[in-house]
Amino acid sequence: MDSRFQSQQPDLDPTGSSRYPWMERSLQQLKGWSRLRELHETSWSEGGYVMREGRRLLNLASNHYLGLSPWLEDYIEQIRELIAAGGEPYIRMGSGASRLISGHDPQHEALEAELALFMERERVLVFTSGYMANVGVIQALVGRNDAVFSDRLNHASIVDGIQLSRAKHYRYPHRDLERLENMLKSWCEQHPTGRALIVTDAIFSMDGTKAPLPKLVELKERYGAMLMVDEAHSIGVYGDKGKGLAYQEGLHQQVDVIMGTLGKAFGLEGAFVAADGVVVDYLINHARTFIYNTAMPPMMAAMLRIRLREVQEAAPSRKRLMQHANLLRGLLQERGFDTGEGDSHIVPVLLGDDRHAVKVSEAILQSGIAGIAIRPPTVPQNEARIRLTPMAIHTTEQLTYACNQFIQAVGRGGAPESVLIS
Ligand SMILES: Cc1ncc(COP(=O)(O)O)c(C=O)c1O
Repeated sequence: MDSRFQSQQPDLDPTGSSRYPWMERSLQQLKGWSRLRELHETSWSEGGYVMREGRRLLNLASNHYLGLSPWLEDYIEQIRELIAAGGEPYIRMGSGASRLISGHDPQHEALEAELALFMERERVLVFTSGYMANVGVIQALVGRNDAVFSDRLNHASIVDGIQLSRAKHYRYPHRDLERLENMLKSWCEQHPTGRALIVTDAIFSMDGTKAPLPKLVELKERYGAMLMVDEAHSIGVYGDKGKGLAYQEGLHQQVDVIMGTLGKAFGLEGAFVAADGVVVDYLINHARTFIYNTAMPPMMAAMLRIRLREVQEAAPSRKRLMQHANLLRGLLQERGFDTGEGDSHIVPVLLGDDRHAVKVSEAILQSGIAGIAIRPPTVPQNEARIRLTPMAIHTTEQLTYACNQFIQAVGRGGAPESVLIS
């Protein structure tokens, strides 16, 4: 039996004598389908490794792309200096209220001003997470008489935002601009007074593919729609100083709303929205996840200000990250693995069947590599995969070793021959 299933096994009761038999049944069913989700205590260790259940694993399963220091101790001095420079005697740990009540701290004000300069946009609004930002922005921008046009592979938080907005939801096939245009055209003809919002991940989280941003900007202009771009996986990684994919493509001023997360390449927590000033004022008045959510801890905002400087100076790390991803992708492709259509820092190994993906993940774990099986509903049916994400701090040797181990693990029965495309 899969040792990870044994470790944190929920107390499944097949006799149905539990207080919640329907939950037991549902969990049993997920387990039978190899889709049971479980928690695994994981601590970080130096050199791009994690410790899990007493084992040291090469961490190819995080979004901590730049590998910036995860240790609070490394920043204490800088935080003290930052507070002193701002004339504040102390820094609050928690905000104590939502931003609109009494939670709006000088650290939030300063972080938003610095992020607006970084993004080269009029204003920035900080949220407590990317999930909160996506849900709040979409729900605020559109309502029941409007429509959202969303790539089929967009993140779950985008889907949830659309549901909360009650707008009509049009899902277009991944990066299929012809289908998107047909949907937009016919909706705009039939609803001349409704608002249309196109929303896309910039880099798709589970596929590593890039959104066709120039064409999306063209379409939004042609049909008078708004465009929102989720830069969760591209902020800090793409563009000069890590300003994102829209910036790299010279489109950051044309995109109506850019959302960036601060828990991935930035390695902390939170998110921001960069837009025109009027959009930010509108969100402050209408985004429910901003209005009804306790503000980000001021301590976190201060740490993010320090991180922002670090991210801007991390050009060598951005370069190394891409070299690492290209190495990993190249070695896997050479051995016949299907790594999909992307060319970014996210390298999926497409396996298809859920059970195969779980077996491969277990086999590589035995070889000292953390690479997690991603299964539906996170990805479409029959598209289970191992999502590999190198970090800038890894070494060529570590990654070559990981690839060899991966290949051997699959060969040892982690998955059948059918996962190899050649
Ligand atoms: C594309 C995308 N958008 C939004 C989010 C949510 O961001 P956060 O984890 O900060 O809530 C994620 C997180 O996985 C993501 O991958």
